[in-house]
Amino acid sequence: MSSFGAAPAPILTEAELKLLQALVYQECGMHFDERRTHFLQDRLLRRLKECRVDSFYAYYRLLISQQGKDELAKLLENLTVNETSFFRHKAQLDLFQKFVLEELFKQKSARREYSIRIWSAGCSTGQEAYTLAMLVTDALAYYYLRNPLPMELPLPKPLIPPPWRVEILASDISYSVLRHGQEGAYSEHQMATVDYGYRLRYFDKVGERYAVKKALKEMVHFDFHNLKTEYLPQRNDVIFCRNVMMYFDEAEQKRLIEKFYRCLNTNGFLFVGHAESLLGITKKFQMLHKDSGTAYQRVEVRD
Ligand SMILES: C[S@@+](CC[C@H](N)C(=O)[O-])C[C@H]1O[C@@H](n2cnc3c(N)ncnc32)[C@H](O)[C@@H]1O
Repeated sequence: MSSFGAAPAPILTEAELKLLQALVYQECGMHFDERRTHFLQDRLLRRLKECRVDSFYAYYRLLISQQGKDELAKLLENLTVNETSFFRHKAQLDLFQKFVLEELFKQKSARREYSIRIWSAGCSTGQEAYTLAMLVTDALAYYYLRNPLPMELPLPKPLIPPPWRVEILASDISYSVLRHGQEGAYSEHQMATVDYGYRLRYFDKVGERYAVKKALKEMVHFDFHNLKTEYLPQRNDVIFCRNVMMYFDEAEQKRLIEKFYRCLNTNGFLFVGHAESLLGITKKFQMLHKDSGTAYQRVEVRD
């Protein structure tokens, strides 16, 4: 290995591109077709410079070596698109809050099973998971307004009224976005889609940033999970995996949907991004569509 300093940037040959594309696909499922090759090449070149490696092939050898594991993680982090926002795609969130959660509260209360588990898969910097935490908290409060508890709650009232337990898992393949989510502090710009009612109830102003209040933060647990692997979090009532599958090819999307089917409880719900769809990919989910919001519910196969 040698530094190339001011020397011309190394050329990426067709064969090297194929090797690196295949390695990235095998590691995380991301597929770089012709439209995204330029992006891949740009990010690879940045990592090559950072590592002071003078050819793409040498860089590939580093990635597949034992000592290249950290560098592989860094490369994957550099290839992800982390765009996200609070309350992203309101129609879908309305469907979640007004239909899916109502359904879950009713069914679970009838079974005296008072726990709800939601997974934000590909959570980026955490805005989706905290949005879901705010929506569930409000939905439960509204549920109790209509179905009062037989006893008074202790003061200060807990965010989630007992006997309910709500767990939200937020996972990603990038450690840097997970750290940001875990920290739970957002700039004015990132808060643009959070109206003042939510800001007042769920955030503290700390310097220039808005910090998620402790009680809401405790509902969300951040963890590393690569959606390419087989061992993914089980027993979820709802999975949100929005704007992640669009970077996978059809074969990988199919595999992921199969895994999500197994990661969901009976009759569980799956939300995918606005530009993503399960149509033509699986028959194991049925589509729910209300007021421009779409979700998918697990179809139970009788044997
Ligand atoms: C565009 S963001 C979507 C964030 C959020 N779900 C939303 O819709 O606002 C896509 C996220 O998926 C993550 N991602 C990509 N491939 C992944 C994989 N194989 N396993 C886990 N996360 C992955 C990226 O790191 C990124 O943070």
